[in-house]
Amino acid sequence: MAFVAFMSENKSKGKINDYYNKRATYKNRYQLHDTLLLELKNKPVFYYEFGVAGGDMIKKWSSTNKVKESRFVGFDSFEGLPESWEGKKEGHFDQKGDFPDINDSRVRFVKGWFQDSVYKALLDCDFHEQCVYHLDADLFSSTLYVLFQIHAKLKVNDILIFDEFSSHDHEFEALEIFKKCINNKWQFEFIGAVNNYRQVAFILK
Ligand SMILES: C[S@@+](CC[C@H](N)C(=O)[O-])C[C@H]1O[C@@H](n2cnc3c(N)ncnc32)[C@H](O)[C@@H]1O
Repeated sequence: MAFVAFMSENKSKGKINDYYNKRATYKNRYQLHDTLLLELKNKPVFYYEFGVAGGDMIKKWSSTNKVKESRFVGFDSFEGLPESWEGKKEGHFDQKGDFPDINDSRVRFVKGWFQDSVYKALLDCDFHEQCVYHLDADLFSSTLYVLFQIHAKLKVNDILIFDEFSSHDHEFEALEIFKKCINNKWQFEFIGAVNNYRQVAFILK
């Protein structure tokens, strides 16, 4: 299976890789973000998060990286998942349409289904600094859609973080299909993973 091959290929690689972790917990995902932020916290970054919910991760990035040129943009319906996923029902993560409350002028949110909002919103976004794309929509459909929307913006040294990569029919499969469709334009160099490849980061080369 492709996911097993991916795991074994990257077994002894990465700045962080906890495989095999007997105590995988959702909280451990912070370790991957901390590893990235250690290098990026004093640099201007454009952080794009697809799937924001209550905003834990966009808060973490914007409160750790205080560089004035940095920007943090979060995309979400704020109405929860559009489809059921791994035992979670449609509507799970519903925020009743409310944005997270973050008092930082560098942070903004785009509310709507990605399929209706991302294309237009990206026209008004900047990409000249190193971009960090955090793909945390869980679903195959949402992740694949976003990958194709950001495709033309990608550049060397941009970072892609997947939050549920080991849900291999979803985020992993979306990335596999995306890679097949872009003429091998990018090498996705493995930065690291936590929770037995649940959360995974790549840098583009
Ligand atoms: C796991 S939550 C995000 C968690 C968040 N990144 C954090 O760190 O706390 C997934 C989110 O993706 C959003 N989402 C999934 N597919 C979407 C779509 N097609 N359009 C808009 N939002 C979507 C859901 O509304 C949900 O809030």
